Amino acid sequence: MLTVAVLISGAGSNLRALLDEAADPDFPARVVVVGADREADGFAHAEEYSIPTMLVPWREFDTRDEWGAELGAQLDVWKPDLVVLSGLMRLLPPALVDAWSPRIINTHPAYLPEFPGAHGVRDALAAGVAQTGASVIIVDNGVDSGPILAQERIPVLPGDDEHTLHERIKPVERRLLIDVVRRIATGDLDLAAMA
Ligand code: GAR
Repeated sequence: MLTVAVLISGAGSNLRALLDEAADPDFPARVVVVGADREADGFAHAEEYSIPTMLVPWREFDTRDEWGAELGAQLDVWKPDLVVLSGLMRLLPPALVDAWSPRIINTHPAYLPEFPGAHGVRDALAAGVAQTGASVIIVDNGVDSGPILAQERIPVLPGDDEHTLHERIKPVERRLLIDVVRRIATGDLDLAAMA
């Protein structure tokens, strides 16, 4: 059974989908802890499933390195096989990425390498593209620049705003994330070979 830590900053709707899937005894992975850099609304999903949470508040640390060191120390307590960044809106310091990569993956609401960064949906709309997408990648020390594990195109529709487009992207992200976690757990996807 693959053990997974999920790190979030917000609503955690993709986390929720993974938790729902992992409730199926046939799913080969389990979420063992949910962490966040702030009091994230998504903690409620973990609590509903009686999964431990860990809060490492970004604002209480002077530097990214210090925050990352504490996050790393807390992850070490749980020793997950895989770390999933699912809407964690902070860049991790290199020491933490180096400690976990390639066993650390990220979901992103764009068709990488298009529109990396914190505003993937907004940037796609601003660029006026006809289609964007969703991606799951291995985290490296760049901004959404790691090896791509799965991705899918999603059309931008007339009248789309950031909210409507993001809400159409998220179900695709969830499907890709669940599929990637399943493939890692079963050994179909070898992260070390992809990195
Ligand atoms: C997701 O779309 C995720 O890909 C994105 O934040 C959203 C979180 O939604 N992450 C990034 O943009 C990271 N650069 P959720 O909290 O409802 O799962």
